[in-house]
Order: sequence, then structure tokens, then C-alpha cells
Amino acid sequence: MPDAQMPAELPPRVELVTRVMGLWETFQLTRKNLLAIIPHVAVKQPIVSGKTGIIRWHMIMDPTANRRILKEKLDIYPKSDVTKNILRPAIGDSMFIAEGAHWRWQRRAAAPVFSHRNIASLAPIMSASAEAVCERLATADGQADVFDEMVRATFEVISDVTFSGSGTMNSDAVHKAIDNYIDQTARVSLFDILGVPTWVPRFSRLFGPNSLTKMKDIADESIARRRESGAKEIPDLLDLLMDGQDPKSERQMNASELRDNLLTFIVAGHETTALTLSWALYLCAFDPAVQEKLRAEAQSVLKGEVATADHVGQMPYCEQVIKETLRLYPPAAFLSRTAQAEDVLFGRKIKPKDTVMLPVYALHRNELLWENPDAFDPDRFGEGASYDRFSWLPFGDGPRVCIGSHFAMVEAQIILSTLISRFKFERIKGKDPKPVLVVTLRPDGGVPLKVTPV
Ligand code: HEM
Repeated sequence: MPDAQMPAELPPRVELVTRVMGLWETFQLTRKNLLAIIPHVAVKQPIVSGKTGIIRWHMIMDPTANRRILKEKLDIYPKSDVTKNILRPAIGDSMFIAEGAHWRWQRRAAAPVFSHRNIASLAPIMSASAEAVCERLATADGQADVFDEMVRATFEVISDVTFSGSGTMNSDAVHKAIDNYIDQTARVSLFDILGVPTWVPRFSRLFGPNSLTKMKDIADESIARRRESGAKEIPDLLDLLMDGQDPKSERQMNASELRDNLLTFIVAGHETTALTLSWALYLCAFDPAVQEKLRAEAQSVLKGEVATADHVGQMPYCEQVIKETLRLYPPAAFLSRTAQAEDVLFGRKIKPKDTVMLPVYALHRNELLWENPDAFDPDRFGEGASYDRFSWLPFGDGPRVCIGSHFAMVEAQIILSTLISRFKFERIKGKDPKPVLVVTLRPDGGVPLKVTPV
């Protein structure tokens, strides 16, 4: 039975801006919550343009224009300085931020690492992590912050599949280093979004070099040890990437390229997946009927076992719930590009140096593209669902689409189905999470839920 506090309401969303803001106000708001600068019209129109200071910007919420930016005219629209400014100190010129030929060879060398076969062989690590969360929740006192739990679970997975068994990987130390980095260094400022040149000092630069150095040292040490010890019986991401070769140039990654890319996998793959799972659990608590349906599916497939890669394809509703979660709360809620040449998007002229933003959060809630867009409805992604591929972009698209999307989907399905098959999740009155965008779309105040074994 749904409890009395749950009328037909909508899950938490950000109040989008309905009036014109000055530069200073925009700046202040951006520091607090990047989503708060998305104008409300962005969920009603396909394109919104403006000028802040001297920078011209466009927010694009149209699938055809998205296809052009992400796929057809990749050369005109490289990633903007924002992504690079934030991430370069941590992950060097790794695949995530490199452009042109330097990106292409790394992507080709890494692509086979993420094949479905390799991910299936790494899936037991995901199952073990799901089992470990269940053990922790079983001893929790009837309630838990599932965001904390999911951050821990996904970190165990990503650290085990990157530097596993190296003996040097102290997950607490690395976790702390990343957390400090994101908290102190990576606060997106308006300067970053609008692509003000990198030499303009950022407040954020004043913090955090120690945690970064520590993170890199740990990675370097693990790589050196692995070179000595040789590959593991079941190769992990480090083994696979060491072995990887660009078939065209035959180039392989050297030690620092390996380190930067592996740290990229940790930074890009850990919190994003944790957020997906936390919001999914919250939404299940929000809509008990969905939770029941998901539980029925999970229990009939898993029969008391922990989920494995083999189960994943047998739980279509679980995949639907995760896709709908990624629509309402896309962890990477804002993609940003800087135009390099003149172009036209949705009939509007784009000039070189214009900032072109894809506010994925607003795209996913755009009234022209989605019916009742703020409502949670996993059936949107049911059999025969029809939506333009470029109107659902949690993983981006085109050649720079997330290389870890299959990895993330398998991990999310293994952990979510296992948890729902064993526990009931309920909201706690007055403690609903608030979505806030600080690099990723995070729940302010965590996601505290009531947790009871079933
Ligand atoms: C739910 C989880 C995840 C989400 C929502 C997500 C989202 C994204 C998005 C939106 C992009 C494209 C960014 C852009 O075009 O500006 C991206 C790229 C990338 N992601 Fe993910 N990601 C997730 C999990 C992962 C995992 C698990 C890994 C690795 C283990 C990973 C590694 C990467 C890398 C290396 C790129 C850069 C690819 C390139 O530029 O060639 N991600 N991700």
C-alpha cells in the first residue's frame, strides 16, 4: 500500500529561472547550483540563446541539432574549455579531454577494453560489491543514506577493476583524494562554463594539489608493480589497457598515459554510477508500485541469488527503471562545446567561439519531446518505445559517446536488482533529496531512506 504521504506528486526537480538575470546574479547562482541558470523556457523551446558579458551562448534542446553537434560536425564542436579546465589537473590529456588525432588513437586503443565480453568477465566484481552492500544494509538501523552506500559500492567496483590486487590500492585514501578534488577543485564557475581562457585564475586552483599528487602516486605505483608481476588470470582494466593497441598507428599507452586514462575511468565512472543507483532507489521509494513490479521481476529471475551478468538480459523492467532514472536525473546534466567555425543550428547562426551548451537535464524534460516530462514513468522505455535517440543523452552520443556506458548499465542493473530483491526502500518524511549540479547532478543532503529486509 502506498503510504498516506504519497499523493500523485512529482519527484524533486530544480526550479528553473523565469526572469532575466544580471551577470553577478548569474555568477552567484552558478556557484551554488549550475542547474539554477537554466531558464525555464529551455523545457519549452528547442533553442535558447543569450549573451553574458561578452560571451554568446546557446542552449540546445533539439534532437536534430544535437545530432549535428555530437555526431555530424564533431570538428566544429570540440569539448569546451570548461571540461578541460576542471579535469586536466587530475587526468592530464587523457581520452576524456584530448581532441583530434590524440583523442582518436587513445579511443581506438581503449575500445576493445570495454567489449561486452570483457565486461561480462569483470561482472563478478560487481556482484561481490552488491553482496557487500546487502550485508551492510542488513545491519543498518532500519535506515541508511543510500547515496553514501552507492558511492562506496561503485568505488569498490571501479578500484577493483582498475588496480585490483596490486596491494597498493588503499581505497579509502583514493576515495578521499577524489572527494577532496571534486569538492574543492572542481566547483564549476561561470567562467568555466562560458569558456573564459584558462589563464584567468580560478578560485578553485587555490585548493587541493596534495590530494591529486597522492592519487597519481598510488596509480603510478600500481602500474609499475603490474608491469613486474604480469597480467592477472582474469585481466582487469589495467591489464587490458596495457595490452591495448591502436590498430592504425600500432601505438600503445606509456606509463603516464595509462595512469591518466585509468584515473579517468575512476573519476568518470564512479560517482556517475553511484548517482544513477541512488536516484533509482529514491524513485523506487517514491513510487512503491514501480518498486513492487521491479521486485517481482528481480525475485523471479534471481531466486535469492545475487545478480550476475547472465541475469542482466533477463530483467527488462530493471533496465527501463534505470533509463527513466537517467532521464530525470542525468548525472552529467550539462555538456558544453565551443564552436570553432560558423554554423547554423535550428535556423540560428552560430559564430566561432560561441559557447554551445547541451543542458541534458532540460532536454530530458523538454515538453516538445516528452509527454508529462517531470513524471516518473519507466514504461516510456518499454517494448516498442519510440523516441529520438538524440533526445535521451545521459551518455552523450556520436564518436565521443561514453566508453563506459555498457559497463555502467551492467553494474547498475546488478546492484539495483539485487538490492530490490532483498530490501524494501521507503521515503523519510521531509528528507527528499534536492538535485544540485556541481560537476555531476548530486542529491543535496544525500538520499536517506528507510530500509527493511523483505
Ligand atoms: C551512469 C554512469 C555514467 C554516465 C552517466 C556517464 C556519462 C558520460 C557522458 C555524458 C560522456 C560524454 C561527455 C561529453 O560528450 O561531453 C562520457 C564520456 C566518457 N565516459 Fe562516461 N558515464 C558513466 C560511466 C562511465 C564509466 C563506468 C566509465 C569508465 C569505466 C566512463 C568513462 C568515460 C570516458 C573515458 C569518457 C570519454 C570518452 C571520449 O571522449 O572518447 N563513464 N560519460
